[in-house]
Amino acid sequence: MPVTIVLGGQFGDEGKGQITDLLARDAQIVARATGGSNAGHTVVNEGGTFAVHLIPSGIFTPGRLCILGNGMAIGPQTLLNEMDGLTEAGIDLSGLRISDKAHLVLPYHPLLDGYEEERRGEGAIGTTRRGIGPAYMDKMARIGVRVADLLDEESLRTRLGYTLPYRNAQFTCIFDAEPLEMEPLIAEMLGYGERLRPYVAQTELLIQDALDAGQHVLIEGAQAALLDPDFGTYPFVTSSSPTTAGACLGVGVAPMQVSQVLGVFKSYLSRVGAGPMPTELTDATSELLRERGREYGTTTGRPRRIGWFDAVAAKYVVRLNGISRVALNGIGVLSALETIKVCVGYRLNGETITSVPTRAEAYARVEPVYEEHAGWQTDTGDATSVDELPAAARAYIDRLEALIGAEVVLVGVGRERRQMVRRGSFAASVPVGV
Ligand code: IMP
Repeated sequence: MPVTIVLGGQFGDEGKGQITDLLARDAQIVARATGGSNAGHTVVNEGGTFAVHLIPSGIFTPGRLCILGNGMAIGPQTLLNEMDGLTEAGIDLSGLRISDKAHLVLPYHPLLDGYEEERRGEGAIGTTRRGIGPAYMDKMARIGVRVADLLDEESLRTRLGYTLPYRNAQFTCIFDAEPLEMEPLIAEMLGYGERLRPYVAQTELLIQDALDAGQHVLIEGAQAALLDPDFGTYPFVTSSSPTTAGACLGVGVAPMQVSQVLGVFKSYLSRVGAGPMPTELTDATSELLRERGREYGTTTGRPRRIGWFDAVAAKYVVRLNGISRVALNGIGVLSALETIKVCVGYRLNGETITSVPTRAEAYARVEPVYEEHAGWQTDTGDATSVDELPAAARAYIDRLEALIGAEVVLVGVGRERRQMVRRGSFAASVPVGV
């Protein structure tokens, strides 16, 4: 059962790319399962700093098969731009494979995303406006266009012949916008298809063949569990499922083939876009953490909202996703603080509640119950083992572990590949080749 899932445990931007980059050394396949270019994964390694949006972070480990799974929503032009950028930087793309079942983000999707956001006004979700929601909307409405259709003109004409007039009617009648033309769109898409053809495959079969051969598959989660359409802060969520279940569906593995789910958390909280965030800070501490943690969106450049670690939400995520091990990032970011708070409970309407309320309106009214911890005010960037961390930092990590009910096995003390300290059951094991 050698499938490992790396899952975002909060609202995204927990540093999944760095963890995937690290674990990719022990996997033969690295696959993305969900989302599209709304994700932005920063990888810092010996070759430099790279921001990838669609291609799995495993691409930086030579010899790996890197799969864009069936559960993704892929903009072909965006993908080709990313491929060109990596090729220019000397990254080998021969291991790249794209699922023929993945849905396409077409030029009308970002337009629709933008128009819908404008229409929501005050209630806007704060999407990345990359067209991801509308692409998944089409998938579920069974009017989507898939990667396989790019390789076959007849299929492409059939799919677009149905969907484009429908979208155009929406643009002209509801949004008072210009329609898109069919023939230039078809020509553009067929051009992309020709360039992408060598990489397209039935990737679920590649994954199952690899598992049959005893190989290791790493699934790189995108976004994060609190942005899940079912269990996140609906409607302030993304449109694919950034959960363990979503990861299985998005690449074509069965739940019983998964051997471990590694949740990635930051030792504080950040969020981009609208929606409830009970531990949000709006004072000088938030500015300090934003600057120290470089908390600006990889995809949109937006400043991220900052808050204290929310152990109630984290425990909910751990339980629903079968997270047994945790990578905890951002310990170094907290080093500047004298005291650090952790949310250990919520109060709503004068009562204590122990889980995440379903309605966003109720969640927005929740008051966090905090416990306070002493800070360590020492730079942790050079620590190579947990023993080298200050006692207060170790106590903080021990406490988070107890609160969320999963073992912290990796502690991120900086952004570089080497700045990842092993702990607990990973301390003695060989697999994380740090
Ligand atoms: P969408 O996925 O672009 O539709 O955006 C929906 C919500 O998810 C917005 O609040 C986005 O800011 C958030 N979101 C989407 N992708 C990411 C990500 O990779 N990191 C953090 N937030 C994200």
